[in-house]
Amino acid sequence: MPVFLNKRVNVDGLFLREVREGSTTVYIPDIEKYVRNRSEYIPTSLPVFYNPQAELSRDTTVLIVSAFIRDSVINDMIYLEAMAGTGIRGFRVLNEIKVNKTLRIILNDANPFAAKLMEINKKEFFNNTPHVEIYNTDANYLFNSLRLRNLCPNIIEIDPAGTPAPFLFDAIRCIKIGGMLIVTATDTSCLYGKYPDACMRKYGSYVIINPFPREIGVRVLLYAIGHEASKISRSIIPLFSLATHNFVRVAVKIERGKTKANDFWKHQVGWILFCPACLYFEIYKGFSNIPHTRKCPRDKMELSLLGPLYVGKIYDENFVRNMLQVLPQMKFSAQNKRLLEKYLMWMLESRHIPLYYSLREIARRIKTSIPSINGVIETLRSKGYIATRTHFDETGIKTNANIDEVYATFLAYV
Ligand SMILES: C[S@@+](CC[C@H](N)C(=O)[O-])C[C@H]1O[C@@H](n2cnc3c(N)ncnc32)[C@H](O)[C@@H]1O
Ligand SMILES: [Zn+2]
Repeated sequence: MPVFLNKRVNVDGLFLREVREGSTTVYIPDIEKYVRNRSEYIPTSLPVFYNPQAELSRDTTVLIVSAFIRDSVINDMIYLEAMAGTGIRGFRVLNEIKVNKTLRIILNDANPFAAKLMEINKKEFFNNTPHVEIYNTDANYLFNSLRLRNLCPNIIEIDPAGTPAPFLFDAIRCIKIGGMLIVTATDTSCLYGKYPDACMRKYGSYVIINPFPREIGVRVLLYAIGHEASKISRSIIPLFSLATHNFVRVAVKIERGKTKANDFWKHQVGWILFCPACLYFEIYKGFSNIPHTRKCPRDKMELSLLGPLYVGKIYDENFVRNMLQVLPQMKFSAQNKRLLEKYLMWMLESRHIPLYYSLREIARRIKTSIPSINGVIETLRSKGYIATRTHFDETGIKTNANIDEVYATFLAYV
């Protein structure tokens, strides 16, 4: 959690309080002044959006941007946060990333109080630095005006409250080729399969309740981004993906070229069939490769279809290694550091194996208790399989063992 400091001020009628995240201090709206009722949702009860729970998300921004800049040969970069609220994310990028390169920060928010607070923060904590520019307009309007003025950012971050879908196309068109787009979505129920109609409408994927919701959420979001990119012959390379209970977040590199954009539809888009009864699944690569087999080979139950969605690699190994290398230098809380280190290590161990088996879901189906996850992993490894945990599910195992082997190993433990 962020550190709430004692200093409180009132600037032009805004009640503000100092808060520290990482090594960065800024003012945020004073929660105690604006939130009277415990049942209120804090971030949207404030005159300027601030969610203390999103500190982990902001830590990952610092890590992702660090890793990207470190790997780039470009010496002069622009990072744009199009929906910046208090500006804390962008100020953290400015303050916590140590590089011998010039990094300009553009912060924007449609809410005039947000723009005002960002100006206050810039003046109070960053000496009115000329490296930070603040705008108060609609995100898509800003993307288009920057593009028309030839001021394309190398990195664009979109962090709306809800779906990022309406902002993807203009952001992709604005970003420099070879640049990075970071996207957060908080409409997780829709991405995880609870609202299939909303998911089709916003993201173009048919997704129902399924046994791997968080990874499916990532794959739906990547599909939507890749789809928007392909309209202007651009394509995506996923660098990093993360899904927790309340947000889905991806960082992708934007490339140019019809062949790569076609390749997205032929090889990275696909379909997933799964058996709701036993968790068996199949993955089909290619938009036109719509599966026809609809019976589970194990129990002859009807298989359920998800798609189209992104079925390619959801992170880049070198990028994740880079993130791991810069992590120790970061001034994040010890808890967030440990968590991120664990997640990044699991990503590398999983060697791009898609989806996972949730021991909790298996236990529910065969009406037994959940065995030791590390025990099941060790046994699978001793049989020569790759088996690893995943941040997508506390009891999830990514493995190249087939489902019968997973069940046999599971049963040996209960
Ligand atoms: C989730 S909050 C951003 C939080 C911030 N990124 C952080 O890390 O603290 C979403 C913000 O988007 C702003 N917003 C909503 N619609 C917008 C639009 N069309 N263009 C620009 N900003 C918008 C809201 O005012 C709100 O501050
Ligand atoms: Zn089955």
